[in-house]
Amino acid sequence: MKKNRIVVGCQWGDEGKGKVVDLLAADVDIIARFQGGANAGHTIVVDDTKYVLHLIPSGIVHDGKECYIGNGVVLDPIGFVEELRVLDSQGIDYHGRLFVSPATNLVLPYHKLIDAIDEKNRGTSSIGTTRRGIGPAYIDKVARNGIRIADLFAPDRLKKRLDWQRVIKERYLADSTDERADLNRTYEMLIDMQKVFREMVVDVSRSLFEAHRTGRTILYEGAQGVMLDVDLGTYPFATSSNTTAGGALTGLGIGPRMIDEVVGVIKAYTTRVGAGPFPTELIDDVGEHLRRRGDEFGATTGRPRRCGWLDLVQLRHAMRINGVDSIAVTKLDVLDESSEIKVCTEYELDGQRIDQVPLDLSELSHVRPVYRTLPGWLSPTTGVTNFADLPQSARQYLNFIAEDLGVKICLVSTGAKRQQTIMCNA
Ligand code: GDP
Ligand code: IMO
Ligand code: MG
Repeated sequence: MKKNRIVVGCQWGDEGKGKVVDLLAADVDIIARFQGGANAGHTIVVDDTKYVLHLIPSGIVHDGKECYIGNGVVLDPIGFVEELRVLDSQGIDYHGRLFVSPATNLVLPYHKLIDAIDEKNRGTSSIGTTRRGIGPAYIDKVARNGIRIADLFAPDRLKKRLDWQRVIKERYLADSTDERADLNRTYEMLIDMQKVFREMVVDVSRSLFEAHRTGRTILYEGAQGVMLDVDLGTYPFATSSNTTAGGALTGLGIGPRMIDEVVGVIKAYTTRVGAGPFPTELIDDVGEHLRRRGDEFGATTGRPRRCGWLDLVQLRHAMRINGVDSIAVTKLDVLDESSEIKVCTEYELDGQRIDQVPLDLSELSHVRPVYRTLPGWLSPTTGVTNFADLPQSARQYLNFIAEDLGVKICLVSTGAKRQQTIMCNA
């Protein structure tokens, strides 16, 4: 039976969701993105062509698949148009198969300006945001001040809502000489955008419901990862949306029965971009080796990613919150040159052993990881496509993870390219 699956990141983002979505998209009719915005960077490599998607679902790379952007996403229309332009230049035809909800909130230039100002003012407590305006746009949404796609087609209402922005954001915008503070310009830009969105606006909730009812299959694409979830991540060092499986329901307007399975994406080690606690971080040559071998530089901002060992305490948190059925383990090949591989199995907090993530940041910031050391395999796994062909220690490593987490492995990724993959339950 073909399944309706959610794909969620189980660490701090950049787990390889783009590649996993691309692979699983081959078997579905529809791919739907439910949260986040252009803070995401999802990479897909097909043969020698690399695609980096920020807002548009990764399924777009598959010819003919329908792609939906739900109401839970915050959409930067300028970034969106730029992304369409790149797709055009890469020969991807998205016409007639890319749809957006009228209830999707927009990220406007002033949100990006405010993101930058807030980050600067936070000083040493800055979050290290992507400066894509994500937080300020979600603030507006929740405060019911947001501007949504539907407003583009009601110019009077749009004008009124922008005038209200002038009032509530006076502190940021009134004396600014930054062009992003110019609301007249934003108004003109939005009116101009009508032509881009007119063809794409559909009631996403209804379209997905109807598709499901008639037996078509849907893949729900998450962005970021569980530890960046605004409720259950390392708050306040988090993003501003629900990055977890629950976000798919509210972010697309679907009921839980439209989901059959949750696939959690796990990098074979851990990375994080931006500030905040990271218990297994390696600030040494080993961390540097992972960064270099894993090419760990952000797909959106180019920032070096912080690197560390796999953390089972953190992953247990991810399994529970997302209700993960199976895991896709990526970047196994990055560990090929490590003679020994450590896995964090517990934390030590004030002399006590704990096996769950404390939600109080002051506790999480000073836990000490307790490691189990497993042997490395010191042989190449790049491009391996059969589980049985992996070195024995690599299989042992993967089985150890799956057993601890109590889930099955559905896929192992052994390189960035589409073909460099082991499909485990094929
Ligand atoms: P996402 O945000 O979760 O979609 O992940 P990103 O695309 O930001 O980061 C993952 C990076 O790892 C991308 O550059 C991918 O091309 C690359 N990648 C994915 N899977 C593998 C793998 O198995 N091995 C290697 N070496 N690279 C991979
Ligand atoms: P994908 O989908 C990794 C991080 C930022 C920062 C925090 C808040 O590619 O996995 P924001 O701009 O969202 O307000 O920043 O969240 N962050 C990500 N880190 N991958 C991402 O997306 C991220 N999106 C946001 O670095 O620490
Ligand atoms: Mg990414």
